[in-house]
Amino acid sequence: MSVDVTPTAERLSPTVGAVVHGVRRDQMVEDPDLPAWFLQALEQYGVLVLREFQIGDEEQVAFSKKLGRVEVFGKGPLPEIFRVTLDPTKNPVAEYLKGTVDWHIDGLTEEIPIMATLLSGHVVSATGGETEFASSYAAYDDLTDHERDTFSRLRVMHTLEAAQRLTVPDPSPEQLRLWRMRPAKEHPLVWTHSSGRKSLVLGATMDHVVGMELEEGRNLLNELLSHATRPARVYRHEWQVGDLVMWDNRGVLHRVLPYSSNSGRDMHRTTLYGDEVIR
Ligand SMILES: [Fe+2]
Repeated sequence: MSVDVTPTAERLSPTVGAVVHGVRRDQMVEDPDLPAWFLQALEQYGVLVLREFQIGDEEQVAFSKKLGRVEVFGKGPLPEIFRVTLDPTKNPVAEYLKGTVDWHIDGLTEEIPIMATLLSGHVVSATGGETEFASSYAAYDDLTDHERDTFSRLRVMHTLEAAQRLTVPDPSPEQLRLWRMRPAKEHPLVWTHSSGRKSLVLGATMDHVVGMELEEGRNLLNELLSHATRPARVYRHEWQVGDLVMWDNRGVLHRVLPYSSNSGRDMHRTTLYGDEVIR
């Protein structure tokens, strides 16, 4: 079966996000032309929103597999689905998710960060829980020629500890020990993608600029991050039940606004492995 309805993307903000129209649920698994359309649109817009799409877990996994290699979590009938919830009975690592309220890029302490994430809203929080996005391509594009030149030579150390300290400023020795088991990862500040586009590699995991005085480096990184995520550059997704949101983790920073752990908020996530080393 081929495309009988061509999807269209309508921008949600000048630099990031688009809402997708004209796609039916059954097309997601059956239409052979759709994955290429989505991958291109994802790269172009950074975030794609399908409002009240009501995708089921099986369809979400099947569609994700058409876009790339899907990460597997644990066991069970659909191990590709990760429940994003602060309810520890549904998610044993709920405590770690509290760090997602800070701007970040997923997987910066890994060799290759993930490519993209798909999130389907099953239960939404009555207050809070919105997800915000900002383009890290736009963050680079905003720089002056002089800044581009200077920053292209800088390298940044990323650690889990730096991210966790934002929510747990006074960790116990045991917490520190666990965080430090994850090795630090050094990345260039400017990522030159295989497409030729450039983005800034920023977020909660930033620990220090290699070879720069600690405070000076941290001030620079924090300044760049707040510039990249200033309100005019942000798309804030206010969830309705059934919304499907996917984002390109290579060119987008994201965070969730705080919500209560007893809000019931429950998002079903699938994650696509990346194939591009940051260079
Ligand atoms: Fe994340």
